[in-house]
Amino acid sequence: MAKQHMQELLQQMTLEEKAAQLLQLATPFYEGAESGGEITGPMESLGVTPQMVSDSGSVLGLAGAEEVIRVQEAHMAKNRLGIPLLTMADIVHGFKTIFPVPLAIGCSWDLALAERSAEIAAREAAVSGVHVTFAPMADLVRDPRWGRVMESTGEDPYLNSEFARAFVRGFQGKDLAEDRTRVAACVKHFAAYGLAEGGRDYNTVDLSERQLREFYLKGYKAALDEGCEMVMTAFNTVDGIPASANQKLMRDLLRKEWGFDGVLISDWGAVKELIPHGVAEDEREAALKAILAGVDIEMMTSTYVHHLPELVKTGLVEESMIDEAVLRILQLKEKLGLFENPIRGADPAAEQEIIFCEEHREAARELAVKSAVLLKNNGVLPLNPGQTVALIGPFAENSDILGPWSWTGSRQDAVRLDQAMQRRWSDGRLIVEGCGVESITEEQMLSAEQAAARADVIVLALGEDSEMSGEAGCRADIRLPAAQLELVSRLGRLGKPMAAVLFNGRPLDLHGIFEEADAILEAWFPGSEGGEALASILAGERNPSGRLAMSFPYSVGQVPVYYNHFNTGRPKDAPDAQVRYVSQYLDVPNEPLLPFGYGLSYTTFSYSTPVLEQDIMTGDEPLRLSVTVTNTGANAGEETVQLYVRDLSGDVVRPVKELKDYAKITLQPGESREVTFTLNEPQLRYYHADLSHRSDPGRFVVSVGPNSRDTADLPFQLS
Ligand code: BGC
Repeated sequence: MAKQHMQELLQQMTLEEKAAQLLQLATPFYEGAESGGEITGPMESLGVTPQMVSDSGSVLGLAGAEEVIRVQEAHMAKNRLGIPLLTMADIVHGFKTIFPVPLAIGCSWDLALAERSAEIAAREAAVSGVHVTFAPMADLVRDPRWGRVMESTGEDPYLNSEFARAFVRGFQGKDLAEDRTRVAACVKHFAAYGLAEGGRDYNTVDLSERQLREFYLKGYKAALDEGCEMVMTAFNTVDGIPASANQKLMRDLLRKEWGFDGVLISDWGAVKELIPHGVAEDEREAALKAILAGVDIEMMTSTYVHHLPELVKTGLVEESMIDEAVLRILQLKEKLGLFENPIRGADPAAEQEIIFCEEHREAARELAVKSAVLLKNNGVLPLNPGQTVALIGPFAENSDILGPWSWTGSRQDAVRLDQAMQRRWSDGRLIVEGCGVESITEEQMLSAEQAAARADVIVLALGEDSEMSGEAGCRADIRLPAAQLELVSRLGRLGKPMAAVLFNGRPLDLHGIFEEADAILEAWFPGSEGGEALASILAGERNPSGRLAMSFPYSVGQVPVYYNHFNTGRPKDAPDAQVRYVSQYLDVPNEPLLPFGYGLSYTTFSYSTPVLEQDIMTGDEPLRLSVTVTNTGANAGEETVQLYVRDLSGDVVRPVKELKDYAKITLQPGESREVTFTLNEPQLRYYHADLSHRSDPGRFVVSVGPNSRDTADLPFQLS
């Protein structure tokens, strides 16, 4: 019935109206938007006419119930057929209640909390009139120089896939038509954007199809298997073809092979970027290549609206191709209930009630606690409540803790570290000295030294500001800024106990802080409740439990360095390895400083020798591995027991370890728990040289442990 109605609507549309339905513009183009409705200045460069705006199909970056209602009403009044606008926005890790950045969420290994964070983000966005979020980002990342690693959940395809699914469930719920508190999700950036050469944003990506399928496509596919409504193309090339013109990726793989029939949108300006990429001579050719590749919506350039009608008339593009794209957009509008109720969930009264409410903030606080990773601790943490603490550094009293993708979040609402610590170390026992992120004056250095001298313990709040990561936020030197290293070194000379809390969007090269500090707590960009969450950990009210979702390199020269690498023919650690002619660096270790899966706790855990029920697996007989974990420390704590596999003789080389499963368990002091994992044959499948996806009988190793490095390994056979 609904489909029929959409078909009828489509038939009433002129070719020009159809082309405009594929156009997505930013908020200022629209009447009713604050400072909107007038096409002047830089907007003129898109060359869109008021008619094109009235006929356009979707708007980006529009939020706020009253504004959305105004814009939608004005739009419906002007649109000849009364087709409502779709509103889309980047609700990446929260709307007003900002959760930790996705890389931090990845470190929680907590899918239920991740899902809840997306559900809350959706609920706040939906009452503010948003219909679609440009999330989750499922790009696999291995290069911390790339600023956008903070938007991903890390370097492991399995963990990424699980998080992509959890986010989609949280954003979309079970039924978008029924549940107006949810929003449609758009997985991005298809495909392999995370492999940008040299870690430089927008840069070339080139990899074999086998590698693409084995590692990079899994996250997007998982999101789609969970029912994700939309896909966004990436900026980069794959095998020499920019994603937005890549027929092989979009038509052959996404549409035909995977059967995706939702809306495919370009990234911002990516269609016109086919010109500087060097695959289109002009805007007309860019439009032609993008529509042939199957891109439905063109975001923020206007090649479609200007050229598609003529491309159809001259026979270069079949009108049916445009019809399919328009129909998909109309169907999404229908599914969201926009024809029935164009303002959908937008509700100014509900906005007041639920946005940034205590329940949402509590969820953000919980996730910030669970995402923090204790990287080092020689006993200085937790702090003693009786101690005088000098809280020093650029993030001591800084509210830039929301992260680069929190456009609707407000820094004023963020709980700073000093504010939350003040509540715990009152009576003058907290001395706070802030300073700049990249430059610290001599006066600030001296004040910091004086504060430290008066205290029993120093807490350094260090890191990168939010401009130093995120989109276009790449760095070749991923150490802390030099001024901060100088601060660390000067305070280190005082010989006082020193703990550091790090705020940053990427794994850093920790030289200059790792040896110097007695303890390091990686906080990432922890979101609106960050200060409170961290203070509760520093004070020992909460026990840190995060585990790294991305390796911390020993030095940037090793990058990319990731746990699931290949062995090479000359591995350095082979029993008969030579001194020189092995795969190694002469000046740094091969291993990262801190591996994937790593993280400490205020308690300690011991693992028994793992036991395999039998050491042969068959197609019908899974493998069962049990290990007993004991809390050997004095505090209750949460452990993440990790299961890895290695295939010793594949058709193609296989990673030295691959995460297959994990279990999070909470143990009281002295408590033991047996954890049993079941491993099935499908979990051993991989892409062969002929791209078939299957397992091979032969020798394997199964490993279990607290991280990807410190595992106990047992052989088994697949027969
Ligand atoms: C980013 C996308 C984002 C889009 C819309 C682009 O620059 O790459 O991740 O969704 O802008 O804001």
